[in-house]
Amino acid sequence: MEGIIGFIGTGNMGRALIEGITKGGLFAPEFIAAYDVMKSKSEELAKIYGIRVCKDLKELLSISQTIVIAVKPQNMDEVLGEIRSHLATGSLIISVAAGISLRFIEERLPHKIPIVRVMPNTPALVLKGTSVLARNRYVTDKEMERALRIFQAVGVAFEVEEKLMDAVTGLSGSGPAYVFLFLEALTDAGVLMGIPRDLARELVLSTVVGSVELARNRKSHFAELKDMVTSPGGTTIHGLKVMEEAGLRGTIMKAVKHATERAAELQKLVEK
Ligand SMILES: NC(=O)c1ccc[n+]([C@@H]2O[C@H](COP(=O)([O-])OP(=O)(O)OC[C@H]3O[C@@H](n4cnc5c(N)ncnc54)[C@H](OP(=O)(O)O)[C@@H]3O)[C@@H](O)[C@H]2O)c1
Repeated sequence: MEGIIGFIGTGNMGRALIEGITKGGLFAPEFIAAYDVMKSKSEELAKIYGIRVCKDLKELLSISQTIVIAVKPQNMDEVLGEIRSHLATGSLIISVAAGISLRFIEERLPHKIPIVRVMPNTPALVLKGTSVLARNRYVTDKEMERALRIFQAVGVAFEVEEKLMDAVTGLSGSGPAYVFLFLEALTDAGVLMGIPRDLARELVLSTVVGSVELARNRKSHFAELKDMVTSPGGTTIHGLKVMEEAGLRGTIMKAVKHATERAAELQKLVEK
């Protein structure tokens, strides 16, 4: 990858990205720079990965061609205010702040800066993230390719139009929480039926991982894979009947709809 990538904020997400791009060899450590108000966080990363630590934002901006902003949404206004006057022309800005729109960032930076907005999710912490990216009209295809490759270093990455970002937040952004709730419920169900908790946990985890692998390999519709397990009058159809009667399918759709609507509401609140 060309140039230096600079990270503003090295908390959970900044750290995961640095780890991913270092392990994947996307940028050599001397081409990765970081600045965090908590100096100890970026210094720790420098010790582990050999990346550069900048003493302030000005230094980071003067050496970086790609700038990843990984601070909390409530710190975005302050960070954008600070970087506004030091931004070099030709820099690509990438923001992972949830609910911060491209327009919010554009309004606080000099005119015509290329900006990519990203919604990653927590499995990025173990390099299995799902990230969705949207760009403003100043981002070239080559710059977008650069942004996608950065997030592919911590999992998979897709490009969408910004209007889908709230829905993506409700689906893949919040998604890990839905999955963990399902995993927990299934484990409890095993315990209810007398299976020791540790064993129930392992059975649930490997059943989910195995099912995902099967779905990936076969590329069939999920319903066909479900039918493979569901013999006439058998155990599975009895379990599924209870789920359908309880309205599990509709509940999941409603959950994603509410999360999407909440993402839109929060964006309005943050941007006020
Ligand atoms: N974690 C996730 O899985 C996830 C998923 C999707 C999106 N995101 C987004 O990723 C962003 C970062 O989340 P996170 O969980 O990594 O947060 P985090 O752990 O709090 O990390 C942010 C870091 O940035 C530092 N910081 C704050 N203001 C700064 C400034 N002006 N200059 C430089 N550094 C500054 C913070 O220091 P202090 O602690 O002292 O404030 C902290 O060390 C958020 O906007 C979030 O919406 C995260």
